[in-house]
Amino acid sequence: MIILGIETSCDETALCLLETRGAGASFECRTLSSLVHSQAELHSAYGGVYPNLAKREHGKNIIPLLHKLFIDSEALLRNATAPEASVEAHSSAGIADEHFNKVIDSFRTELSGQNPELFKAFSHADFLKSITGIDRIAVTEGPGLEPALWVGISLARMLSALWDVPLFPVNHMEGHVLGSLLPSEATNGAWHRLFDAQFPSIALLISGGHTELVKVKALRDYEIIGETKDDAVGEAYDKAARLLGLSYPGGPHLAELAHKAWEEKIPAPVKLPRPMISSKDLDFSFSGLKTAVLYAVRAAPKDPNGSLTEDFKKGLAHEFQEAVKETLDSKLKAGIEKAGARSIIVGGGVSANHVLRKKFEETAKEFDIPIFLPSRHVSGDNALMIALAGALHSDARTPVVLRAQGTKRIDEKS
Ligand code: KG4
Ligand code: ZN
Repeated sequence: MIILGIETSCDETALCLLETRGAGASFECRTLSSLVHSQAELHSAYGGVYPNLAKREHGKNIIPLLHKLFIDSEALLRNATAPEASVEAHSSAGIADEHFNKVIDSFRTELSGQNPELFKAFSHADFLKSITGIDRIAVTEGPGLEPALWVGISLARMLSALWDVPLFPVNHMEGHVLGSLLPSEATNGAWHRLFDAQFPSIALLISGGHTELVKVKALRDYEIIGETKDDAVGEAYDKAARLLGLSYPGGPHLAELAHKAWEEKIPAPVKLPRPMISSKDLDFSFSGLKTAVLYAVRAAPKDPNGSLTEDFKKGLAHEFQEAVKETLDSKLKAGIEKAGARSIIVGGGVSANHVLRKKFEETAKEFDIPIFLPSRHVSGDNALMIALAGALHSDARTPVVLRAQGTKRIDEKS
């Protein structure tokens, strides 16, 4: 089976073609192509993601990215298990002009005003007529920024009508869980089985929009047992980084500064709080930590130009990361015990952080259970994890009317 994955929940336009075979324990997959176009640089001027700009950019970029996706995966697609799968760019075989025009007309009233960039690009995408052999489309329905989510959903609906293939809505956070069970995203033609996570597992999801502890009772069976009461951990990284004068998204830059403090043995200029570390529940809170960084920055000695000294910035970045690390780790440990977890899954953009990964690996060792951490490609937002989640859905054609669901929870049924 060949699945097209579409992800536009935030500031990454992402598409993937994934091929799968088998089911249950013998399920295997291989990536034909997985592309991500980041808008981060554009949003850095606003210090965060600006939803309507994200929507416009997705609308402008997603069709050219789709074209590139099919060109990139052409060789593997020709050898795909489904013998009819093929893409012959610019050939006239495949979908008749009449059908293509009919699909465009049927979406004109709805989309030409709502999403003109996408609608225009789709109307001129002649390469779509020569594509056959896609078996299903998986698209992120939420959580995320609704204007941005709508772009992926609208494209998915148009392609579903054009190719007459079923559509599967995917929860973005479930994508982060499943993505961490993928041994590789390599596009070298090799087939992979998912890591055999022992259930129940505890998933620690740490991203720009979410911080959650999820009990994974089985593949696709989730229960949120802890979550942030205010800011997400990635958001706290980004806000603290901004206070230190670093550009958006600040997480990786702050981590770099913290590393320098460690290398140069620069001490912490202040002690930051470890929020909710001794609370009995599994919830998190990061807005107080961000405020403590703000106060520390205000009170800090400045150089003659009124700027923070480099040593202060490094020392504070390191202390911030230590506070985050100790907080996340203590909640993870409590979560393992509460869920009776037999394995740990970590997912979301912040899981790219090496210091945090190392700590979680030590915790897994302490509990003598396996840990599954995402590869670099899969830790950030991507469509491979969305295609994978779509592949693991049941085979039934979903009768749902798709809509963006900005606050959809991982344990909420469709
Ligand atoms: O999962 P993701 O790509 O997007 C959301 O769904 O939110 O997560 C993005 C977040 C940003 O806040 C970014 O600063 C953070 O992940 N991030 C990091 C690192 N790399 C990305 N935070 C800390 N250390 C990193 N190395
Ligand atoms: Zn994400």
